[in-house]
Amino acid sequence: MGKRRISICLGSSCFARGNNVNMTVIKKFLEDHGLDADVTFTGQLCENMCSKGPIVCIDDHIYEEVNLSLLYKILEEEFKC
Ligand code: FES
Repeated sequence: MGKRRISICLGSSCFARGNNVNMTVIKKFLEDHGLDADVTFTGQLCENMCSKGPIVCIDDHIYEEVNLSLLYKILEEEFKC
């Protein structure tokens, strides 16, 4: 399997509404699970989905309205931890 990708929207709306915290949580999750080397983690500019933000993308899957509890669920599901 190729390298996995996580990308979060760092546009002002998504950032202010949760991705500021989500970014730290994802970084920590990757470190804690030794996934640093297997996952490319990047930020992206506003994707014009602000009303559905915060937006988090994992591989080709776009997750909307990602609050903290949803984020943990998504990460556990995607990375089977
Ligand atoms: S700020 Fe994230 S979609 Fe616009």
